[in-house]
Amino acid sequence: MKNVEALIDNPGDTIDQLVAGHRVAYGLARPFYHDPEIYRRDMERVFRRHWHCVAHESIIPNANDFEVFHIDTEQVIITRAADGAIHAILNVCRHRGAEVCTKQKGNARVFVCPYHAWTYGNDGSLRAARLMPKDFRREDHGLKTLHVRVVEGLIFISFAEVSLDFGEVEHLLHATCGQYGWANAKVAHRETYPVAANWKLAVENYVECYHCGPAHPEYSQTHALEQPLHMIEAMNDALEARTCALGIEVGSGNHWQTSREGREAIHAFRYALYEGVESGSEDGKAVAPLMGRFTDFDGGVTSIHLGGTTFLVCYPDHGMIYRFIPKTAETCEMELIWLVDGKAEEGKDFDLDRLTWLWKVTTAEDKAIIEHTARGVRSHYFVPGPIAPMEHNELRYIEWYLDEISHP
Ligand code: FES
Ligand code: FE
Repeated sequence: MKNVEALIDNPGDTIDQLVAGHRVAYGLARPFYHDPEIYRRDMERVFRRHWHCVAHESIIPNANDFEVFHIDTEQVIITRAADGAIHAILNVCRHRGAEVCTKQKGNARVFVCPYHAWTYGNDGSLRAARLMPKDFRREDHGLKTLHVRVVEGLIFISFAEVSLDFGEVEHLLHATCGQYGWANAKVAHRETYPVAANWKLAVENYVECYHCGPAHPEYSQTHALEQPLHMIEAMNDALEARTCALGIEVGSGNHWQTSREGREAIHAFRYALYEGVESGSEDGKAVAPLMGRFTDFDGGVTSIHLGGTTFLVCYPDHGMIYRFIPKTAETCEMELIWLVDGKAEEGKDFDLDRLTWLWKVTTAEDKAIIEHTARGVRSHYFVPGPIAPMEHNELRYIEWYLDEISHP
């Protein structure tokens, strides 16, 4: 394996050599977590190929509402046009590249570029360009738009020229989030955690629960994931009858499937809460009114892994959207979004501190251990160790990731 300096000299070959030199059933080597060339390849071959959930549509409820999302080097304006349709447009003027929208969120029928005042509709179309020659074609100079899908209230975007097929994702989201009434949910709270670590360290931490016992004493009091596999399987078996009764279908197998087949990957699975636990909260009790088709608590959680950055957690009384947002080779953000029933009122039907307590505590712990790891793997003496059986999803993630960056 070449050193990092050599990697920078000859990035293409050496990334491929690093991939070829990966030791099966072990973690990723040091350069994957901080080398800028690998980060650029991550963005090109993983991030800009896949679908990402950016928000729940309840954050832009009215015609002409918008909000700007910052991801890697990109700024994406998510708008709701006058006809209610949601658009994702890049905040880059088609004249000389200025940011067209300078507010973080608001309500606007048009965006007027602050530089020379080209004026765009909130669907991205160019409406006016001052003093341009007669043969200038406005229709050729709209803002770049991204693919958008809205499923069960969740807004997804894809930067890809030809986006991955979304059919299986839509089907499974209807079968899971649909039962929890997410289309009629609203955002109760959002929290962004800046993390001084490569985005993969954050995702890898999310997908394994080997660390839950030592790192998450609060979470481990209510959720059964940290138990040995055979105990989790026994609890899941006990849940099965109830799960089917609710009509929640879950796919089987591995979420980390290659995108070579042209499809976005999704995997939903159920896991158990401990006896008597109703929800993911400090004391295991409900924290908000039941959602969707639920008339009682079922002792379980539905967890969904989607694409490379979107993770969803459904409790009967609230939902969580977990977004991983790459920023630079050595920084990222995690955004947590708490959903409750659309009719639930803060202060009357739910207490925000109780609702958000568990995942705030858990995510602060995760941020700390991810940053401990980021500092550790900077060492020239870091050698990846073997992946434990409880980290089977981490193992699948690594294999998936290496496959994704290996083909254009
Ligand atoms: Fe936007 Fe000139 S850069 S109008
Ligand atoms: Fe964790």
